[in-house]
Amino acid sequence: MSSHPFDNEFHVTPEHKERFRRDGFVKLEGFYNSEVVEALLNRVEAEMDRGEADSFKADAMFNRAKYDFAGEMTAVYELLERPYLRRALTDLVECDLFLTFEQCFEVEKNVSKGFPWHVGAQSFGFQLAEEFGCTLWGPLHPVDTKRQRGGMAYVPDRVISGDFIFHQIEPAVVSTLEARERAGDRTNVNEYFAMRSGILNSPTMCEILENHQVEDDFKPGDALLFNKMVVHRSIMLGEGALPRRAAYVMRFIDAGSHYDLERARMLEFPVEMYGKGFFPYKPFTRQHIEIAEAGASDGDLLAECAFFDDRDRRTIRRERSLQAG
Ligand SMILES: [Fe+2]
Repeated sequence: MSSHPFDNEFHVTPEHKERFRRDGFVKLEGFYNSEVVEALLNRVEAEMDRGEADSFKADAMFNRAKYDFAGEMTAVYELLERPYLRRALTDLVECDLFLTFEQCFEVEKNVSKGFPWHVGAQSFGFQLAEEFGCTLWGPLHPVDTKRQRGGMAYVPDRVISGDFIFHQIEPAVVSTLEARERAGDRTNVNEYFAMRSGILNSPTMCEILENHQVEDDFKPGDALLFNKMVVHRSIMLGEGALPRRAAYVMRFIDAGSHYDLERARMLEFPVEMYGKGFFPYKPFTRQHIEIAEAGASDGDLLAECAFFDDRDRRTIRRERSLQAG
């Protein structure tokens, strides 16, 4: 393959692999070169301008954020096609990957709280709970844990795994609220979200998570890879020179993983329950159910679902034959 401005000398070391296997996350220093960082900053800026700013800003969560990117994909596909990136990601995760969604989040100094402790229950909520998914998080501005902070904290999944959130808590929240409604007790969307985040943000769990949390420094171009079971949260951007910190996110799933229509429908619960009336709840994304609306059935291979265009270009395959040569 001829050279490309996104090419990079980055390669995975045995320490990277060990860390990812042991903790469920690994910081990848210099994963994107400066050309990529610039391209991603432009991409994020264009998407955030048509973002769901209102709902996130109202709760002082993010200054701007975007779940469903609308821009054309060439730069992202060219990035995914770089041999260094393919080799690094598949070496770390040990499976073929499929890009489902991009996202971006921007926090404002001393204002945005970001997300409290959570796992990607939305972003991976349409995939079978037991199947592999991971996030590549790339802050596009510096994160200095000794000064302004503004990055993320995460906990090794061998200490606390979010597995039980995917498998148990998410379904149990819906069935509990449904039972209350059946008993004549009206519930509301705030209770729904409070119940969803309440377990990981209970005083006891917060103490455990904070005791084990890891927070890294990042330069633009560094990235964090973490699997979907890793519990993580935003860290507020404090006083300092940087007014805002943006991050670009890619969600990948095991290319052999399957659509879980029942769990996708569960994510529609707040729309069906609280989406009408004077102050209807408006979801910040419907991507989980749009996959079904585009023709997917329960159990379909996600990497073959018509909802995703350019499916080949979203797929990162291991280079078995090249490695042997
Ligand atoms: Fe997250």
